[in-house]
Amino acid sequence: MKNTLIPVIAIDGPSASGKGTISQLVAETLGFHYLDSGALYRVVAFAAKQNGISWADADALANMTEMLDIRFEHGAVFLGSQEISQEIRSEAMGKGASEVSAHPQVRSALTMLQQEFAKPPGLVADGRDMGSVIFPDAVLKIFLTASAETRAERRYKQLLERNVDADYTAILQDLQMRDKRDSERSTAPLVQTPDALLLDTSHRTIDEAVDFVLNAYKNVLNSSLSH
Ligand code: DC
Repeated sequence: MKNTLIPVIAIDGPSASGKGTISQLVAETLGFHYLDSGALYRVVAFAAKQNGISWADADALANMTEMLDIRFEHGAVFLGSQEISQEIRSEAMGKGASEVSAHPQVRSALTMLQQEFAKPPGLVADGRDMGSVIFPDAVLKIFLTASAETRAERRYKQLLERNVDADYTAILQDLQMRDKRDSERSTAPLVQTPDALLLDTSHRTIDEAVDFVLNAYKNVLNSSLSH
């Protein structure tokens, strides 16, 4: 039985698949809250670095995570009183997030915090295990992906637009390595659950992808009304 009291739309998928942009637009259109769960793992990687804790030290990371004061305010990310929205977006913190998130202790230290985001009128949650672990009762689960080449090309163009030096081959290799780590870890790996709809954005625009999710949500609402 799906929990429709507080509807959750779970959007999972690999790095640079466009999940963040698409999830935020869906949340805005529906007036729902938005959870960027990847940002939480990035904050853990950032805080570990600040506190001299190794990304490999699962127990120390989990103890630290329990104590962290992480807040999202109008799209900005705060650790205590420090705004770290930009800092956590670096490639280094992306890599750190992928490493710290492989520890089950760290994942369980973040579970409740993530579940508390489910508030009326609803939530769009973006990550790797939103539909499989954190919100198994989500009314709609989307597995959003794109080929590694498409994702690398998008990231490459973004960097060039920002006048950042970029190397397509290095980006592609980095994405493939991150995909492998996120998919092969033993706890909450990135997987498409059987009840998730596949949305491949390789040949779709952002608007088309957003429409796909909104239509799928409409179908969920219509089918729950007719039952
Ligand atoms: O979505 P992102 O690139 O900001 O996520 C950074 C890393 O965090 C990603 O490589 C894997 C991890 N992550 C996770 O394990 N589970 C989530 N729900 C979200 C992110």
